[in-house]
Amino acid sequence: MNIPTHIAVIMDGNGRWAKKRGLPRTEGHKAGTEAARAVVTRCRELGVRHLTLYTFSKENWSRPKAEVRTLFELLVSFMKSEGPSLKQQNIRLKVLGELDDLPLAARQALRHVIKSTADCTEMTLNLALNYGGRDEILRACRSLTARGVPPEDITEEAFQNELWTAGQPDPDLVIRTSGEYRLSNYLLFQAAYAELYFTDTYWPDFTPEALEKAIQDYNSRQRRFGKTGEQLA
Ligand code: IPE
Ligand code: IPE
Ligand code: MG
Repeated sequence: MNIPTHIAVIMDGNGRWAKKRGLPRTEGHKAGTEAARAVVTRCRELGVRHLTLYTFSKENWSRPKAEVRTLFELLVSFMKSEGPSLKQQNIRLKVLGELDDLPLAARQALRHVIKSTADCTEMTLNLALNYGGRDEILRACRSLTARGVPPEDITEEAFQNELWTAGQPDPDLVIRTSGEYRLSNYLLFQAAYAELYFTDTYWPDFTPEALEKAIQDYNSRQRRFGKTGEQLA
């Protein structure tokens, strides 16, 4: 099986998972963290080199305050419980998004794990946190302009180097759970040629087996990058 080098996931459906069970949305988020933990480990075992999890979008700030608070509390406990395990699995943690805008406890917990896993080489785990694709593109434009980079030097490569994912390959496969068919401002520049995989499964029910099914589906695709099928045959 051809394992994608970079998998990006939109972990959606925690709220509906909880609602279906008559539980508060926060229980869905809690169950979602368990699913994330298992998927991280399986990706690492399968030899995925970059895994990006959409953890909190810029737009998610508009949710009820209590839900936002719970999400960051869960993130802090995830960092505390999983930090050592990430290091032990040789997984490097990165955040795609502005850390300084996060609640203090989350910022500190993340910084700690980012630091302690900085030398890990088996897989990079990117948490897209406080992330927005358009915002990321505008940030890159501002940074290039502020440095006075001449227009002819603004190449795709130069641009990529200004994104949060600088130095990492583009996602090969984008997975979205919960039956929604949209990108929700995720990796707009990087996902230009990603294969898209959608499943009705709510994120908390997305098991390592479901991940393998998505990878199998990816293996049935022909990535043409603008060429004809015959050219690639
Ligand atoms: C995804 O699940 C988690 C975050 C966006 C943080 P949702 O909370 O969006 O769940 P639904 O879409 O309401 O079911
Ligand atoms: C996308 O899910 C963001 C995350 C998974 C963190 P949303 O639930 O926020 O997306 P929309 O609002 O349904 O597009
Ligand atoms: Mg949602």
